[in-house]
Amino acid sequence: MSDSEKGIGVGILGFGTVGTGTVKLLLENAEHLRRRVGVPIRIRGIADLDVGRDRGVAVPEGVLTTDGFQVVRNPEVQIVIELIGGTGIARDFLLEAIRRGKSVVTANKALLAEHGPEITRAAQAAGVDIGFEASVGGGIPIIRTLREGLAANRIQAIYGIINGTCNYILTRMTQEGKAYPEVLAEAQKIGLAEADPSFDVDGIDSAHKLAILVWLATGAYIPPKEIFVEGIRDLSALDIAFAREFGYAIKLLAIAKEKGGGVEVRVHPTMIPSDHLLATVGGADNAIYVKGDFVGSSLSYGQGAGMRPTASAVVSDVIEIARNLRGGGVGRIPPSGFFLHDRGDTAMVSPFDDVRCEYYLRFQVVDKPGVLSKIAGALGAHSISISSVIQKGRKEESAVPIFIVTHHAKESDMRAALAETDRLPDVLDRTRMIRIENNL
Ligand code: HSE
Repeated sequence: MSDSEKGIGVGILGFGTVGTGTVKLLLENAEHLRRRVGVPIRIRGIADLDVGRDRGVAVPEGVLTTDGFQVVRNPEVQIVIELIGGTGIARDFLLEAIRRGKSVVTANKALLAEHGPEITRAAQAAGVDIGFEASVGGGIPIIRTLREGLAANRIQAIYGIINGTCNYILTRMTQEGKAYPEVLAEAQKIGLAEADPSFDVDGIDSAHKLAILVWLATGAYIPPKEIFVEGIRDLSALDIAFAREFGYAIKLLAIAKEKGGGVEVRVHPTMIPSDHLLATVGGADNAIYVKGDFVGSSLSYGQGAGMRPTASAVVSDVIEIARNLRGGGVGRIPPSGFFLHDRGDTAMVSPFDDVRCEYYLRFQVVDKPGVLSKIAGALGAHSISISSVIQKGRKEESAVPIFIVTHHAKESDMRAALAETDRLPDVLDRTRMIRIENNL
């Protein structure tokens, strides 16, 4: 068989939703891919523990196996595609493939966020490529956007809606006024949210993806444990409704900002002006808003997960690597997109206590004279200035909410002030606080 007929061999580890989408794409668009690459892309192996299930796709004969290492070691496999997920066996497979001189593609954001430096150093030492377009934003080509399209810019800020599960839940809470547990249960019923949703709703998935985006923006790595993370479990329909009254929408944002010699990184529910483009990103969609020093603002938007969009991203990496293999360009671009960087290998994370933003506060108080002044006094004592106040309803002898929006304040001051107000006898419940980003 001639080289051009033999084509480029790929092996797929993990035949779940994304694996199935990838196989479908490779088969359905085979001729299109051949024209893109110049030679065919051929599936030489697919490994999964479950090889009996019908996935509705005509798998080429003899490629299915339960042994991932068989795929990794197959000499006909030049590109190993890891779609297993997690940080255990997936890491072993990737490192083994790299040791064998094979380029790899992965959609595994947890693995890259936790072990990125180890894996990318191994890939560079072995002179192979590593593609990870599917690790952030599903079908949105944000990895290439940062590494190539916006490479000329110093990136000043990134604001990402990068967890579809959270965005879906928040969108429905906003549109229907429903409570978090109710919408979560519905999202689980339709298979959008996991049975254990913690990874998504507690913001961990967003933090992993943010670590990858910062790495691409700065060339320096941030261990995910250094990212401040607050999820969406605590949000109430009441806060969403009042945010709207103040002119804001609430989104779970992954935020990175250039700050001095370091970077400010955080994931938390954020109030953003209702007329900002990010506020219009609904359902399970993702969007990443990037500010660069020359390009200005740039928004990438699309489906952040799902079989077909994620397969689109996976196969975009396969195409790039296959072209490199053919043209002798493997290793041309380092994984982060930086040959040298000015911060060392690890980014300096600026302390979360030093973050400055505006805040929305909801106090649950006894409705009697003097309560508001005590709250205002505690805020003032910590250098926090009030921008607006709303109190709705008056129910004798019962609790009423007071909503306050502040001017810019320092995170550590805000926490100290709330510790004080929450000790006031007339404040009946833990105060809810949501950070505001007005100037994005
Ligand atoms: N669980 C993720 C989300 C999709 O809800 O966006 C995979 O990254």
